[in-house]
Amino acid sequence: MTNEPKPVRAAAEEVVASTSRRIDRPAMTGPAAWDDRYKDDGYSFGTAPNAFLTTQGALFRPGDKVLALADGEGRNGVWLAEQGCHVTSVDYSPVGIEKATRLARSRGVALETLVADLTTWSWPVDTYDAIVAIYFHLPPHHRETIHRHAAAAIKPGGLIVIEGFRPEQIALQSTHDSGGPPDVRMLFSPEMLAEDFAGFEVLLSEETETVLDEGLFHTGRAAVLRFVARKPLAG
Ligand SMILES: C[S@@+](CC[C@H](N)C(=O)[O-])C[C@H]1O[C@@H](n2cnc3c(N)ncnc32)[C@H](O)[C@@H]1O
Repeated sequence: MTNEPKPVRAAAEEVVASTSRRIDRPAMTGPAAWDDRYKDDGYSFGTAPNAFLTTQGALFRPGDKVLALADGEGRNGVWLAEQGCHVTSVDYSPVGIEKATRLARSRGVALETLVADLTTWSWPVDTYDAIVAIYFHLPPHHRETIHRHAAAAIKPGGLIVIEGFRPEQIALQSTHDSGGPPDVRMLFSPEMLAEDFAGFEVLLSEETETVLDEGLFHTGRAAVLRFVARKPLAG
């Protein structure tokens, strides 16, 4: 091994390779597609929690009842359980939920799990201290329905915590493996989330570009929206 400088062309090819997509992205529609993605032993989005969620740790108190929406293989639900919360992790992929259960067991925390399609789930009302949705993107009619149910399911004074992609992510998908749906209608704007959670006090609504390092499918530059809002106290 020598430390000789690389020929200019080889160095340039390396730069291109490091900023190019390395993985195929089939359309991720329906539980079977997600089961297929999750079927291998590895964790598609890693086992570490979403980086933004960890910055919001002060919002969660031991004993809080938290719903981790579309929790996939459980990395965020397990982290919330490690903060002392009573977490229900829900996703429509049985393979994902099985891996969430395994992850919780390996970390020594309790995690309630549920396989359910959130578009048809019987949502409870005024039940959760917080609902967390990390990269949960749906066509507009389903998003509106699920966010309406989520708003109702949060207790008065409780929180909604979301990180998702913005429309600017579409341009980044051609050069980075940072992921997200290819349909702009499924991406988030601050106005959209403020409307979905109308009446909530918005504590954070931040459009930012970040560099994701969250498993094989969320790696590299990404345009995200970070949203935290509190449901008003009753009365
Ligand atoms: C991009 S992954 C994010 C997983 C997880 N939140 C994370 O950050 O690691 C999106 C997840 O949404 C789930 N999902 C999509 N539509 C759903 C639905 N209608 N009901 C329940 N889960 C759904 C998928 O199964 C998948 O696990």
